[in-house]
Amino acid sequence: MICKRLLSVAALVCFLPAGLIAHAQAPLPPEPRTPPLLLGAAWYPEQWPESRWDADLSLMEAAHIHFVRVGEFAWSTLEPSEGDYQLDWLDRAIRLAEKHHIAVVLGTPTAAPPAWLTQKYPETLRTLADGRKDEHGNRQQFDWSDPKYRELCRIIATKMAERFGHDPNVIGWQIDNEYANESYGPADRTRFQQWLKAKYKTLDNLNARWTTAYWSETYQSWDQIPIPQSGNPGLMLNWRQFISDTWRSYQKNQLDAIRAHADPRQRITTNMMGWFDRYDHYTVSQDLDFASWDDYIGSGHIDPARNGATHDLTRGFLRKNFWVMETQPGMVNWSADNNMLNKGEVHAMAWNAIGHGSEAVEYWQWRSDLNGQEEYHGTLVGPDGTPVPVYYEVQQVGADFDKAGPALAGTTVDSQVAILNDYPSRWAIGWQRHNKAFDPIDSLMTYYRPLHSLTGSIDIVADTAPLSRYKLVVAPALNLLTPAAAKNLEAYVRGGGHLVLGQRSGMKNEDNGLNPERQPGPLVDMLGARVEQFYALLPSVPVPVSGDWGSGEDTLWVEQLGSLKPDTQVLMRYGKSNGWLDNQPAAVTRKVGQGSITYIGMELSPETGAKAAQWMLNQAGIEPTMPNLPEGVDLAVRTGEGKRILILTNYAAEPRTIKLPKPMENILEGGTVDSITLPQYGVAVLK
Ligand code: GAL
Repeated sequence: MICKRLLSVAALVCFLPAGLIAHAQAPLPPEPRTPPLLLGAAWYPEQWPESRWDADLSLMEAAHIHFVRVGEFAWSTLEPSEGDYQLDWLDRAIRLAEKHHIAVVLGTPTAAPPAWLTQKYPETLRTLADGRKDEHGNRQQFDWSDPKYRELCRIIATKMAERFGHDPNVIGWQIDNEYANESYGPADRTRFQQWLKAKYKTLDNLNARWTTAYWSETYQSWDQIPIPQSGNPGLMLNWRQFISDTWRSYQKNQLDAIRAHADPRQRITTNMMGWFDRYDHYTVSQDLDFASWDDYIGSGHIDPARNGATHDLTRGFLRKNFWVMETQPGMVNWSADNNMLNKGEVHAMAWNAIGHGSEAVEYWQWRSDLNGQEEYHGTLVGPDGTPVPVYYEVQQVGADFDKAGPALAGTTVDSQVAILNDYPSRWAIGWQRHNKAFDPIDSLMTYYRPLHSLTGSIDIVADTAPLSRYKLVVAPALNLLTPAAAKNLEAYVRGGGHLVLGQRSGMKNEDNGLNPERQPGPLVDMLGARVEQFYALLPSVPVPVSGDWGSGEDTLWVEQLGSLKPDTQVLMRYGKSNGWLDNQPAAVTRKVGQGSITYIGMELSPETGAKAAQWMLNQAGIEPTMPNLPEGVDLAVRTGEGKRILILTNYAAEPRTIKLPKPMENILEGGTVDSITLPQYGVAVLK
């Protein structure tokens, strides 16, 4: 690889056909090559003359690229006019990729309806929140609930699946692309009202559960109910749940069309967007074969913990390994400052994904579009078709994936710790932040950072996920607690689990109304304590806090705990501040059989958070994986098939030496080591 890196581009291109001739002698494999770790690129053959495809695929093969994703915006090429299906070019692209040992993931093109479609069926255009109709010329201009649009989507997905559903070189499908925009037209509103009627059955029920007597919001007929921009918390919550269900059925329409014609080995996904929260990802993922997401940094540099948590979130959608379906080859074009990642950072970022359970890393996109909205975006080859500098770094990623693939095959992230994520809770806090700086993801990260650095593996799952396999479950800002989730948490603790609830937990019920027990609602009795009062803080007036986890200062949000049962133990207390909080409990815990429940009403600072995390692990009987990691070194652990793989990455500017708990096989460099020194962005994969 190093000598290839030293070759000029021209020499590299000349070098390739020799390799290809060698391949050409051998019969094509019956199934595509799908190694355990996949490197991919988003390729848009429809934008380029066919005579160019072979050169692109040769460069991809030389970069160890195993798959391309094709077709997800190509509707106007696949069906240039209604009913005129042009799939031969796609077939030729798939065949040529196969010759280069590159498999294909097909995207259904429904995120980019062609002009003829929106012209002939204007009812398929979405209505913006201000009442204007969207128009052709961008993408995602469709109405996700419109029956005509769904019919047209079903037809194009069916045509593609009939043609490629048994294609040996097609390994999977991506439905649409990054679901994002809902629609606010009169027909959407009617469908929302029908959905509400099916859920609440009677208006009396709906009115009571939403407390619509407040501000005379009472509804006398279903058609009075609006699509909210802001408004009643129950109405707001239901609109988001309707959006989620509607994306699910939008997707199911295409899933069914493909599954009717495709081999089950062609697994189906859609590319989601990390913490994006306009729909409930647990609702939408449940019909997919695997989850995937688009991992973009935008401005700045990778924060391995936050990026890692986003991988864990995605892995949690279906509680199994996932794919990074898109990531930046160094830079994007859509941020305020589209800086290039540092040399080495793209490589480290790829391993961040693998460490958290990804099976694939795909770069968006292969080559710069000559025109179109994304001319400035990072690519692997430039508009002239020759590699840009980051190409060679991605080539190294591919070489490493090939080397480490066998060791990582059959492994996943198997954590003893789960952090709960809940969309309704995040929406509810988002609509009523009470302190504009309170962000539920930031709050989650105050737990994630210290716990992940001690364990190297965390699961992020829904509050209704099976929990008995975890020794510790942490629920930061679980604001809205449905009866099902409350039952799940209570059964977990009674079964011997250790539950930690963070700020703002258990305040609301399933209709986004207040729990009369106060926080944590249905869990007050088990905790033997409750939140007496919450306080949004002024950053200029910090509240001191001290106790078992040392001392710190809170500046955002605190909760005063009280009404303690005799066996509820106080762990932390507030110091002198606004009078109300002076010497009041800030964190409490109570043993329940073999398990325990803890409520943390204070913020965790880096200092108190580190001690609190250590306390939580002790409480749950979990040994830290590598307790004394040097600052800036990130640890990830994957296990399976009797193997345990550690992935260490140094994000510090200076080299770091890490002492290993025992001698380990160095997968990328070879040999056995008991300590390792990594330069900035250096990665070690150790078995
Ligand atoms: C993604 C999208 C891609 C491309 C990329 C650029 O959100 O799925 O099609 O636009 O952003 O960063």
